[in-house]
Amino acid sequence: MDLFSAPAPESARQRVAELTRLIDRYNYEYYMNDRSLVSDYEFDALLRELVELEKQYPELSLPTSPARRVGGEVNKAFRQVEHRFPMLSLGNTYSIEEIEEFESRTRKLLDGVPFSYTCELKYDGVAIGLTYRHGQLVQAVTRGNGAVGDDITSNARTVGTIPLKLQGDYPDDFEARGEVVYPFEAFDAMNRQREADGEPPFANPRNAASGSLKLQDSSECAKRKLMFCMYFLMLPPDSAQQQDPAYASHSGRLEVARSMGFKVQPYIKECRDIQEIKAFIDYWDKERWNLPFGIDGVVIKVNQTGLWDQLGNTAKSPRWAIAYKFKAERVSTPLEAVTYHVGRTGIVTPVANLKPVWLGGTTVRRATLNNADFIAKLDIREGDSLLVEKGGEIIPKIVGVDLEKRPEGAEPVRYATVCPVCGTPLVRPEGEAGHYCPNSDGCLPQILGQLEHFVSRRAMDIDSLGSERLRLLYDTGLVSNVADLYDLTAEKLVGLGEGTASSIQEKGADNILKALEESKKVPFERVLFALGIRYVGEVGAKKLARHFGNIDALMGANVMELAMVEDVGEVTAVAVNDYFNLASHRAIVERLRAAGLQMTAEDKRVGNQLQGMTIVVSGVFQHFKRDEIKASIEQHGGKVGSSVSGKTTYLLAGDNMGPEKLKKAEKIGVAIISESDYERMIGEADSK
Ligand code: IVH
Repeated sequence: MDLFSAPAPESARQRVAELTRLIDRYNYEYYMNDRSLVSDYEFDALLRELVELEKQYPELSLPTSPARRVGGEVNKAFRQVEHRFPMLSLGNTYSIEEIEEFESRTRKLLDGVPFSYTCELKYDGVAIGLTYRHGQLVQAVTRGNGAVGDDITSNARTVGTIPLKLQGDYPDDFEARGEVVYPFEAFDAMNRQREADGEPPFANPRNAASGSLKLQDSSECAKRKLMFCMYFLMLPPDSAQQQDPAYASHSGRLEVARSMGFKVQPYIKECRDIQEIKAFIDYWDKERWNLPFGIDGVVIKVNQTGLWDQLGNTAKSPRWAIAYKFKAERVSTPLEAVTYHVGRTGIVTPVANLKPVWLGGTTVRRATLNNADFIAKLDIREGDSLLVEKGGEIIPKIVGVDLEKRPEGAEPVRYATVCPVCGTPLVRPEGEAGHYCPNSDGCLPQILGQLEHFVSRRAMDIDSLGSERLRLLYDTGLVSNVADLYDLTAEKLVGLGEGTASSIQEKGADNILKALEESKKVPFERVLFALGIRYVGEVGAKKLARHFGNIDALMGANVMELAMVEDVGEVTAVAVNDYFNLASHRAIVERLRAAGLQMTAEDKRVGNQLQGMTIVVSGVFQHFKRDEIKASIEQHGGKVGSSVSGKTTYLLAGDNMGPEKLKKAEKIGVAIISESDYERMIGEADSK
């Protein structure tokens, strides 16, 4: 309990109980029965009230409170915990014959004992184990290596389909295991948002689910609409329920789990023989694309839990269950044409335009051919038919050429030599797989891409300018580069795009101008990132901004000086240098500066103890990472030297430091200091 907060009055206690009851009920109906009992607005208001009350009176905030679902706890690193019961995996196969063998082997081993199988879906996500004690969720752990996993409890609490407290009858101590999946609809929406924000999209829902559970900020995880599909209820060996008939079968256990408030998918079937198992597999192999989430197979389990011990385990997996994995669906279809897509950075991607074909629940018309090497490797020729596959990923992939259908004398596909949009000859930088259109300031997708990147959330964060409005501003001739944005006025904006969805009225214009004004406060490192210099991501921009301190020093730096910056390789150094060598780019920077954008790094200085000193850092340290100690030197007014020379004041030595630096320092008489000396230097002076 927070020592400084006043004890909660009875009225607050009662209101918290009331809100908890209501929100729990609404959540349950929403997640379990897809039913909204109140509007989103009302629900949010109740939840906000509860969050506020719990903030005010922390003693009222229980670990099972629905307020926990909004997240907020921050994990620096996830604690590793040992599983109480190892999380075994399953033997798996792509072959129906092996399923037949599993079935006959099991029947033989059980030697006349009556039993059945359950067939259920093999959810394509991330396996986790949830520990419940006295009806409350106490811990959530990822599978990890089966013996040890990551404690992701605070993120798991944000998943709506994971009950925080149970209802009805439940064992006092048990583990619920299942898969966290990312439903397709939410996954697509999240990826669209990421692309709009200039972040790389996730390759598939499984990776996205796994990445989400490892987010450090649980309130970010709360925004990902993950779902938990329970597939296993694990009882400790001494549990009273071991004798309870309701727990004597796997399907029975899932049924009781449902009554406790778990989301248990209804697609489970008790099967008596191999024919029924095969029918289940066949059905879902076709139907799987109609599910709202991904599955990658079917799991077959002996239903009677009392027989599990008798069948036992192999080293890695139980003998009473097996997974059948679906093969990727594959079709052959004629290649009608190769077209080329030009991206925001000018990268050109070849696209196969296919004769439309039905595959895994959707019609496929196009698929990426990645780059020239890919086309050459598969030896794709004009008039070929291509093999297209759809596996766990939702995006169809070209996996080869259907050689049987190759027309005689077919010529290799000739790769484009000029940009399909602006006609500029393409270039292919040495050592890279991709071709680029170098006309970055005159090629439409690149211009629009740069504008979109500039306004994106992590860059200048001007969210009132979406891609349609940017297109409108470009089409009307008002904006053709990022500096033009700051010349916009209400007179120019109001009335634009009349009659279209992106039309701008007075209020819209006002919002745009306000956001542009606000963007003038965005720190230099983000301005630098917003310029969209090739290879300069958020981290690179930060390092460059810190190192050079302002745009003039950065523009004046040569390739060597740029490449000296930590984490800035030669390729990036060349790209930065090339960028500022263009007079048109320098002109844009000057216009942005004149508009009032930040062109100097904020002074991050916390003290002047190291004023006038140059310190060379070597080795590893206890309390600092390497770039942290360098930043700390700069924050205290010192300079970081890269090699020991006459100008070096101190050599700051960590463990395993380079012998060369040590030798040199001793030779020219540079004082060597330890990490604790350093801490004393900044600490002592701090307290003066
Ligand atoms: S049962 C001891 N059932 O597939 C039995 N697993 O190797 C434990 N999976 O890592 C697993 N859907 O995470 C089971 N309906 C389902 C499943 C399922 C997905 C995952 C599980 C495991 C892997 C099998």
